[in-house]
Amino acid sequence: MKTQTVAAIYDRRRRSQTAATEPAVKLLQEGEVVALPTETVYGLAADALKPEAVLKIFEAKERPHFDPLIVHLPDLGWFERVADVPTQEKQLVMELIGRFWPGPFTLVTAKRGVVPEIVTAGLQTVAVRISAHPVFSEVIQAFGGPLAAPSANRFGKISPTEAHHVLDELDGRIPMILDGGSTLHGVESTVVSVTGGKIRILRPGPVTREQLSDFAQVEIAPATEKISAPGQLPSHYAPTTPLKLRADLESPGRDGKNQRIGLLAWSDCKIEKSYAMVRNLSERGDLHEAALNLFRYLRELDQANLDLIIAQTVPETCLGVAINDRLRRAQSR
Ligand code: TXA
Ligand code: MG
Repeated sequence: MKTQTVAAIYDRRRRSQTAATEPAVKLLQEGEVVALPTETVYGLAADALKPEAVLKIFEAKERPHFDPLIVHLPDLGWFERVADVPTQEKQLVMELIGRFWPGPFTLVTAKRGVVPEIVTAGLQTVAVRISAHPVFSEVIQAFGGPLAAPSANRFGKISPTEAHHVLDELDGRIPMILDGGSTLHGVESTVVSVTGGKIRILRPGPVTREQLSDFAQVEIAPATEKISAPGQLPSHYAPTTPLKLRADLESPGRDGKNQRIGLLAWSDCKIEKSYAMVRNLSERGDLHEAALNLFRYLRELDQANLDLIIAQTVPETCLGVAINDRLRRAQSR
């Protein structure tokens, strides 16, 4: 299969991309998969209500069938068509989606029968979100129904934040990539569930614990905990090169001489000269900038023929929680 990359950089003056997005919509209607930009990372989309189409996502990504997908909706009107929110949780759920949709926020809630089993890996819950990306939004509205879309990388690998990352991962496996430029946030959406009036963060992301605390008590599910979905695997987002996390770089703890070691640094840390390659997530210590650079730098370090990547943790606040979460999962064990 030949993978075609189509430029769909959003033109603010025209406020429309119809000519560029049309072929993507057509492919989706024919039950094909298409990689699309979202505000978080690129997604690999297919008709969420067509099991044969969703199967192609699992095949292209080599994703195990026990890992459920996020269902993206064209608009709020679709929410209760796919979700069956328990009455006692409804008020909080409506407040949350009212505040954070469209945006980098995914809600896990009870599903309706229309959502095929393959999408939810047989679970009785479904993960839903509405993307704010203009290109994604235009495609899904023209398509007119829910799109299942996991990140457009091969299973367990680093999520793509640019169209050429998708090509690196899935060239020859999918018919089309819509190129909408770099994504806005750089890390995947925050995934939450709501039970007993509390918010549980299943995957930290751009919508932070601090923001969610305005609505209810918040708890973070530990990465290793076996939750309702096996998708929260502790090892994920992994480069091929071994990666070790360090809280500080004062004692780099080099394991082995004559090794080419790369460094993923943070802020104005003191960096030894001996590193073969250095990338700084944000020299000025800005967590938003760090999130944007995270997957791109991990990819660059991974492609540099290093023996080891040392990554420095970032402060465990706001977006830093999501960044550290991805780094911990990228760490080789
Ligand atoms: O930002 C994002 O969320 C991107 C863009 C493309 O929307 N998508 C994304 O999808 O990151 P994916 O499949 O790479 O990650 C979805 C996560 C997985 O960890 C999956 O296990 C979890 O959401 N998930 C999906 N359905 C679930 C469910 N019913 N219960 C609990 N977790 C679920
Ligand atoms: Mg993913």
